Amino acid sequence: MSTTETAIASAEAHSAHNYHPLPVVVASAEGAWMTDVEGRRYLDMLAGYSALNFGHGNRRLIDAAKAQLDRVTLTSRAFYHDRFADFCTELAALCGMESVLPMNTGAEAVETAVKTARKWGYRVKGVPDGMAKIIVASDNFHGRTTTIVSFSTDPEARADFGPYTPGFEIVPYGDLTAMREAMTENTVAVLIEPVQGEAGVLVPPAGYLPGVRELTRERNVLFVADEIQSGLGRTGKTFALDHEGVVPDMYVLGKALGGGVVPVSAVVSSADVLGVFRPGEHGSTFGGNPLACAVALEVVAMLRTGEYQQRAAELGEHLHRELGLLTGGGAVEAVRGRGLWAGVDIAPALGTGREISEKLMEEGVLVKDTHGSTIRIAPPLVISKEDLDWGLDRLRAVLSAR
Ligand SMILES: Cc1ncc(COP(=O)(O)O)c(C=O)c1O
Repeated sequence: MSTTETAIASAEAHSAHNYHPLPVVVASAEGAWMTDVEGRRYLDMLAGYSALNFGHGNRRLIDAAKAQLDRVTLTSRAFYHDRFADFCTELAALCGMESVLPMNTGAEAVETAVKTARKWGYRVKGVPDGMAKIIVASDNFHGRTTTIVSFSTDPEARADFGPYTPGFEIVPYGDLTAMREAMTENTVAVLIEPVQGEAGVLVPPAGYLPGVRELTRERNVLFVADEIQSGLGRTGKTFALDHEGVVPDMYVLGKALGGGVVPVSAVVSSADVLGVFRPGEHGSTFGGNPLACAVALEVVAMLRTGEYQQRAAELGEHLHRELGLLTGGGAVEAVRGRGLWAGVDIAPALGTGREISEKLMEEGVLVKDTHGSTIRIAPPLVISKEDLDWGLDRLRAVLSAR
């Protein structure tokens, strides 16, 4: 057996099979490139589902982490530490908000948003105890906890994990009328992704997001934007909502906030909304730890320059222009997305998304399929134009060879 086969067989023998990875075993990575255990190089066109917006081994982020490793890494929230205030202040400023509640993973931040919205509903809006409702969208992806899968419409994510958490109303994504009709005096929040990543990089119809903003404001409902995958530069702006000039009541952030180094997530909102929490009502041992804060602080500083957003916008325009040329030729049925982020629907006759991903892997490009014949393209924002073009050439080659 090859080194790769041995490593995969051992991984499969000793781990739960809750993923179906491509058969590549990564040993090291730098920028937009990964190298496997046999020395083969691959262009990373997935970027850890946008957790690696700044690329692998980003010098600034690694240096920030290394410096912090030598000082203090964990205090728990039983004590203050000297990176916490800066992290919260800077992240709040990036968001144009006032207050931050740090967690670790995206799902934890979504759970935090759900708890915040419910508590706000009871304490501030005056919803009768136990009656709070949150409106979510069909085909959402917000994570994997039991509460979050309770409002998933994906049978795979949901089946056999009941009993499910009540209190969620599902309406079709992009349908403002349905949202309006689902709203009652007990609705405390609307929780949506401004671009649905896992669903295949779905951008809602123009006007939908401003409409959600208007409706939620009118009805005293919190607009909670899950920008865990869409935020922090990916779409060519700091937040995907920026494209429509919309400011939510709460951002839910994760992935790229940890710079691909450590898990860092957060809920960012007004002092009034996050002010509903009292000591002991919510928390996390690792949330807001010194190492996480040091790395995330650097991430925020990098985003404050606007350079990464600009890069994503420029390269994104190029990416969508090139992908657009593939539609109409029969191989590609549709391309969606924003910035350096695309969902590409391959003609089913050419193979499943998985098969196309495997072919691309053989050509030295790593992407991930989603839902049948769709592949997602989301390289690190630091990718060079030449490398992006090379990756697109490989895609063209795979499609024309089939
Ligand atoms: C929009 C969105 N929300 C939440 C999550 C969950 O994040 P995590 O996997 O860090 O729990 C994801 C992960 O893909 C996501 O894309």
